[in-house]
Amino acid sequence: MTDAVSTDKPPAAETAPPVLKLTGLSHTYTGQRRRTTVLKQIDYSFERGVFYTILGPSGSGKTTLLSLASGLDRPTAGTVAFDGVDLEEIGLGRYRNRHVATVFQQYNLLTYMTAVQNVTTAMEITKVRARHKKARALELLEQVGLDRHHATRNVLRLSGGQQQRVAIARALACDVDILFADEPTGNLDEDTAEGIIRIFRDLAHERNKCVVVVTHSQQLAARSDRTLTLRRGKVSSR
Ligand SMILES: Nc1ncnc2c1ncn2[C@@H]1O[C@H](COP(=O)(O)OP(=O)(O)OP(=O)(O)O)[C@@H](O)[C@H]1O
Ligand SMILES: [Mg+2]
Repeated sequence: MTDAVSTDKPPAAETAPPVLKLTGLSHTYTGQRRRTTVLKQIDYSFERGVFYTILGPSGSGKTTLLSLASGLDRPTAGTVAFDGVDLEEIGLGRYRNRHVATVFQQYNLLTYMTAVQNVTTAMEITKVRARHKKARALELLEQVGLDRHHATRNVLRLSGGQQQRVAIARALACDVDILFADEPTGNLDEDTAEGIIRIFRDLAHERNKCVVVVTHSQQLAARSDRTLTLRRGKVSSR
């Protein structure tokens, strides 16, 4: 027996808004003598479950774009929306604390702390509900290739590449919707960088996060799902 064919269409699935949407995004820095327009009317939507890379020459505005998209700075014109809601409505501070984690180009670690303390502090700020925060922090540090011996040292006594990995572990510790990373593998050897790339891909593909990584590395870009290139204030994608 065959089921009667229903002529009723299923209710149209409501398409969810993109996790992050940039609309007419422009940014100009105003110095004492001149103004520099870095981003010009950028429209782009980022989705959950996708690993993006952003390429572009030095000075093309990659870090600026991340600052606006992560709510660290306000655009001169245009809007940034998270899940369809303007960041101005959510509140920039609230957005930063609850929904995004960033690996900064300059790491921005708390230099009077150890690696593990840097990670547990981030967990506290973003209200991660891990019962054993220190154990979880050590596990994440190990995942990025930092053993217990280094994890319990003051971060100023770590190498550049080791500090970079602490910054990555700190961002991974925050269970957020979007992970931004600015040149996260710049100071890492090939094998370590490969391990980090794999972690980013898994975050997007297995945990449905939106991962946005700025890089100069073609190797990293080739491993991402979508690549954006910033040039002369505009973005092109492939
Ligand atoms: N706070 C600021 N005040 C004035 N100009 C700035 C400021 N920050 C960045 N700029 C200028 O904006 C432009 C874009 O800078 P940005 O840091 O976004 O580039 P980038 O693509 O990240 O470069 P890199 O690959 O070297 O990190 C540059 O010309 C820079 O000099
Ligand atoms: Mg930069």
